[in-house]
This record gives sequence, C-alpha cells and structure tokens, in this order.
Amino acid sequence: MNDYERDYPDYTEAPGYEHGDEPPCNTSKNPNFYEVMEGRVKRRSFLAGGLAAISTGLFGSSLLGKAALAQSTAKGALLGFTPVPISFDDTVVVPEGYSFHILGATGEPIMGDMPAFRSGANSAAEQGMQIGQHHDGIHYFPIDGSSEDGIICVNHEYIEPRFLHAEKPGYKGQPIDSRSVVYDADGMRDDDEVQLEINAHGVSVYRTAKQADGTWAVVADPRNRKITGGTPIAIGGPVQGSAHVRTKYSPDGTMTRGTLNNCAHGVTPWNTYLTAEENWAGYFSNTDQIDQKPDLPREHARYGVSSNPQGGRYGWHLAKSGADEFARFNASSIGAAATEDYRNEPNTFGWMVEIDPFDPESTPVKRTHLGRFAHEGVVFAPVVEGAPVVCYSGDDARFEYIYKFVSDDVWVPGETDGSILDSGTLYAAKFNDDGTGEWLALAPGRNGLTPANGFADMADILVNTRLAADQAGATKMDRPEWGTIDPNSGEVYFALTNNSRRTQAQVDAVNPRAENNFGQIVRWHYENGDHTRASFDWDLFVIAGNAQNSAVATGGALGDDSIFACPDGIWCDENSRLWIQTDMGDIGPDYDGPLKDFGMNGMLASDPATGEIRRFLTGPWGQETTGVVTTPDGKTMFINFQHPGAHASAEAFAAGDFGSGFPDYDGTVPRSATVVITRDDGGIIGA
Ligand code: FEO
Ligand code: CA
Ligand code: CA
Ligand code: CA
Repeated sequence: MNDYERDYPDYTEAPGYEHGDEPPCNTSKNPNFYEVMEGRVKRRSFLAGGLAAISTGLFGSSLLGKAALAQSTAKGALLGFTPVPISFDDTVVVPEGYSFHILGATGEPIMGDMPAFRSGANSAAEQGMQIGQHHDGIHYFPIDGSSEDGIICVNHEYIEPRFLHAEKPGYKGQPIDSRSVVYDADGMRDDDEVQLEINAHGVSVYRTAKQADGTWAVVADPRNRKITGGTPIAIGGPVQGSAHVRTKYSPDGTMTRGTLNNCAHGVTPWNTYLTAEENWAGYFSNTDQIDQKPDLPREHARYGVSSNPQGGRYGWHLAKSGADEFARFNASSIGAAATEDYRNEPNTFGWMVEIDPFDPESTPVKRTHLGRFAHEGVVFAPVVEGAPVVCYSGDDARFEYIYKFVSDDVWVPGETDGSILDSGTLYAAKFNDDGTGEWLALAPGRNGLTPANGFADMADILVNTRLAADQAGATKMDRPEWGTIDPNSGEVYFALTNNSRRTQAQVDAVNPRAENNFGQIVRWHYENGDHTRASFDWDLFVIAGNAQNSAVATGGALGDDSIFACPDGIWCDENSRLWIQTDMGDIGPDYDGPLKDFGMNGMLASDPATGEIRRFLTGPWGQETTGVVTTPDGKTMFINFQHPGAHASAEAFAAGDFGSGFPDYDGTVPRSATVVITRDDGGIIGA
C-alpha cells in the first residue's frame, strides 16, 4: 500500500474498507470508465502504438478542441509566468515576480475572546473561536464588490489529533502517527479533547482585508463564525421529515448537529456557500452486525459506516461522559425505536450544506436533493434568467459517479434563494464509448427506481443515492474530485484523481497503467451550451503522469515544467485559466513510491485551448495543495496547504520531529494555512 493511498487511518474494519479515505463499496455491475473508453479507442491501437497513438485517436478529432482553439486565438496567451521546478524542500515556491504570505493558519483567532494559538495546547473552547484544522475548499466573498475587503469561507476536512493535542498529557512521547487516536487507559476518550476535535472540523467564516503594507489579515467582524461538527443544521429538501432522519435529537427529522469532513465547496448564483460532506461515514460506529442483529442497513453499508466498536475514525462516541452530543456517533440500534437512539444519525450526513456567510444568525441547511454520497464539492453552471439552475457534484471514491442537479423552478435574479435546490431532478452520468454521454434521472419510476426494485420514494432514492445510480446504470469513475466550469466556453471539467485498484487485466486506452496512479481530467459540453440537456459530448483534457505516461488533449505529453499526478482541486478563473492542484497524499522528502518523480504537492495553471500546462507553485513537506480562488480583480489569490507534516512517522513524532516547520518554522506544530499570492507588479495572477 502506497502512502498516497492512505489519506486516512485504518479507522474501520468494516467490510469493503482498507486503507484510505475512499471505501471501495461499489459492487454493482455497471461498466467502468475504462471499459466505456475501450470502444472509442481500440485496445490494439494502444498495444501497437503506445500512448501517443492513443492520445491522437482520443483527442485528434475533438470538435471541442477546435472551438476552444478559436477562442484562445482571440484572447491571446493565458499563461505569462515562468514555471517553477519540482521541489523536495519544506518551503513554498512561487514564480519569479510573485510573493506570498500566510493569512489564516489553524488556531488563528477569528471571534469571541480571540484566544491566541498555543502550539498543541489550545482548549476545546478556544478552538471554537479559532480557525480549524486541515483547510480545503475556500471562497472569497467580496464585501460590496471589493477586491481588498471580503469574507472568507474555508472548509476543514479532517484532523490530526497529534498536532491538536501535542502538548497534552498522554500524547508526547508515544508512538503516534498522523492517523492515531489516543485513548485513555480505560479505552475511553477525554471529553475536552473530543470537543476540541469536533470544533476543529467544519467551516471557518471570517472577514479579511488588505492592510496598508499590502498583506492580508483577519478582521474582527460580527459575521465571523465557526460552523463545526456540532452546530445545529436544518435538513431541507425531500429527505426532511422522512423516517430516514428521525433521531432522538430531532424526532421529526428536521434537524441534525454538525457538518463533517468538509472537502471542497461551491458558490451559489445567489452568493451563498455550499460545503461538501465527503468521508463522513468513518465518524460512526454501528455494531448491530457484531451483535448478531441483521446486516448493516444499506444506507450505512453502501457508504462504509464502520461496524468496529472502537470506530469511528476518532472514537468520539467513546467520550467518557457519554453526553448525547458524543454518544450520537454510535449508530447502533440500542434504543427501542429510531427516535430513542442514533441509528439514523449517519443518514443526516453525506449532503451538501448551504451557509449564508453574510448572515451569522442563519441556520445552515443540508440540501438533500443534491444527493447523498462522498461529496467532493459542487459547481454551478452559469445561470440564465428564466431557465433552471444546474449544478454538478462528484462522489470521490473508487468506482463512484458524477451527478448533476437541474432545478424545477427557474432563475429569477434577486429572488431565487437556496430553496430552489429543494425540488428538481438529480441525474447520474453515463459516458458512452463514442464520446457522447447521457444523464440518467434518479427519480421515482425512472431508470428502474421503483418500489419493486427497493426504492420507495424520492427520500429513499436520495438517502441511497449510490444505490440508485447503480440501479440506473451510471458509469463508474476513477475517483471524481473537484469540478469547474470555464465561464467563457461553458465546458465542464472534472478531476479524476487516481484509482489504484485497477488491475492489469483492466488496463485500457484511457487508463494505460496497471494501477491508475496518476489520474486524468475529463470535460464535456452541450449543444447550444445548454446545461439542462440530457446528452453531452466529452473528451479527456489531460492524462496526468510523467513524460512517459501522460498525454495532453491538444497533442504531446507533459514535460519538466508540467508533469504532475493526482489532480484534485481544479478551478477555471474568469479568463479561462484552468488551475490544477495535486493531492498525491502525504508526500515527504523520504518518499520513495511511484510518485517520487513529482516532488511535493503543488499547483499548475493550464490553457484549455492550447493544452499548455505550467507548474506555478510547490508546497512544503507532507501537505496537499487544495482550494484556490482569487479576488474579483484577479490580482490576489488564496490557496491552502493542508496537513503539512502528515508524513512524519510515529517514531519521528515521538522524538519531537513534527515533519514540517510550515508555516512558523519555529519548533511549533505544523499547521494548515491559507496562503495569499500576489504579483510584485500588481498584475493578474497567472497572466
Ligand atoms: Fe477530500 Fe476527495 O478529497
Ligand atoms: Ca487528501
Ligand atoms: Ca480533494
Ligand atoms: Ca484527494
């Protein structure tokens, strides 16, 4: 098992789980992406001519490529910076003429008493007023359109307990790796430590402004707040009030507590923030199976909820006090009815959650019609007055699907709000072998979603979105991560980060490796640019890898300035520059696996029309680079480094080596942080 496959601890022994954050739970018979591609690019052409021949066949006749090329000629070159080399250092490297500084690191205060960061020693209450851990999706909401004053929303995907508690009794000196949970001698957990971990999850919302010296800083503001793993959140859409989500906390199934494992995000056309719940299943334990009761319910099993009494992932249900806010992570049927225990608590996770960053009193809402799965993020198509609202979301696990939602109601500027996401049609993508694709509706009575096949109604379909997509016959993909839409061409891009489970027998044209270690980016478009259409045309924009294993849509392979692996965060800016971030896992200086050619994780920029890709930035040891947005003027960029130091072994940690010094380099624990990037001449980032 390679390090990069182990985003997460072995926190569960549930069937189907191995290492990593993406449980291979999909046992349906739908075709894999490579099988679909086989008809389009003949297997023997790969065997005869290698990848170059494949890429010509695959991309050469792309109508999309020609359209994009015409657009590029009109706009001129998109990429104006000198690429940076791969890096093996514990540093941040940006192109010549660019500068960076740290904005919001884990533990920086944003509200309340503004308690100072104390390395490995903050209390739960303090963390509740500070920026959380493991930054991921991020957006800058301008205040009055400003490019120098705005509100940041930033997700916190998961945690490394050893860095949160490094100075607390029982942690230092023990062999603890990045995945470890430390239990007390009695096998239970300390309440304050559990609460701290819950408070380090969720979303940090804070105002930031450019200072006189040109740097950006947190600004105290009544809108600053934390939405944590414990914040009351409403359940909206068709699942609201259904039997699937009735709990002891909310017997009528309208509320739950917290949002967890918030990976990427989306921004709605009405200027709110959506945060994605990705690998939430591991936070729960359901021991019904062990207790000789029936198998785990399908709405747990298909998502990988643990049947290990010690699991979930952080053992929160083992908090000593047994308080309800911790006990709820035990999803076993221990009460007389669903409203007397938390057997349904996992069903209140796996959703997209809407947050209004401008209204600190507003209650976030889980928008259930966008489906329940390991949501990576969500991306909205440009809105058209009088037409439905359309968005896309990927399910980041091996052999899972890409989804689209089309609202019933239409976009009315100034009137439309989040409730438009509560009624519409959810679809799963089917990629045909001829370069076309179709959207399969996941709705009662359609595509086999009938009571006879086990789907009672819309709420049942949504709670079991993965099973509904299996039933409909969607195409199994290689871990769909972020999506983005080119605002000028309307093309949709999705990063498919890797799929290490591909066997030699499954090698084919689009995945010409015995394990897809490197990933690829797929894109599609519609006739007349109409995102509501049921059919689309697609191709691959890039097959990532080193020079011998890569291909670019417009021809050729990646070179020294552009090789990368495991695309994850992608974002197309308003000039159509496609930014690509990498998550090869916890890569450190001693890494010696199949990704050793690529150095530390970082970010590249590409021109969708020419296919050119240039490395823009490299980051410190152990981190992944994730989250990217600019101010409206394009002159200030915000990115995140997540989990610096995560590669440090248990032995190194015990010896006081935290793996990385980022961002303080002063002996304190490494911290995830937002990094601000500017151009010394004040120009547009990337141009
Ligand atoms: Fe949280 Fe799929 O990355
Ligand atoms: Ca990761
Ligand atoms: Ca990601
Ligand atoms: Ca990833």
